[in-house]
Amino acid sequence: MNGRLWQYADLSGIAALECDCFSDPWNHRMLAESFLSGAFYGSLLEEDGAITAYGGVGVAGEVAEVQLIGVAEMYRRCGRGGKIMDDLEALAREHGAKRILLEVRVSNSPALLLYLRRGYGGIFARTRYYADGEDAVVMAKELV
Ligand SMILES: CC(C)(COP(=O)(O)OP(=O)(O)OC[C@H]1O[C@@H](n2cnc3c(N)ncnc32)[C@H](O)[C@@H]1OP(=O)(O)O)[C@@H](O)C(=O)NCCC(=O)NCCS
Repeated sequence: MNGRLWQYADLSGIAALECDCFSDPWNHRMLAESFLSGAFYGSLLEEDGAITAYGGVGVAGEVAEVQLIGVAEMYRRCGRGGKIMDDLEALAREHGAKRILLEVRVSNSPALLLYLRRGYGGIFARTRYYADGEDAVVMAKELV
């Protein structure tokens, strides 16, 4: 398993994994806009030449936000999501963030459990935040 930062050439593979992971995936254009924004840092895991896990964090001053994270279905529950979160928190710290935020669907128990276990706490809800009407929980962790 090889862990590394995103490169532009990875965006097509990440867009394909987004489609496997989400009903409302980021497309190539959305990924490229973030990737090229200058305030975005992406980490991925590669195995046998294929991307198996990926995540990205945006940093604005002392606050970072996890913008996306996903693990290919057959590779889940083996620590890859935790490894990507480690990387994103380290990238956020390295670029000056003291607090990291994320948002998650209220029904997404695997992700909620991953975040709770890593010390994130819910700070507020966004009612009917997603296009299908589901609420989001916004979670935060201090990067001390
Ligand atoms: C959420 C996601 C990234 C987790 O990735 P993962 O590689 O399976 O996570 P890990 O193996 O590192 O799991 C770490 C911990 O999270 C929790 N967890 C993860 N998946 C879980 C599940 N299906 N059920 C219960 N707990 C789960 C557990 O506490 C787990 O630790 P354990 O395996 O020692 O019990 C993955 O399920 C995924 O890609 N889901 C689809 C995309 C998505 O929902 N992204 C998050 C958007 S907010």
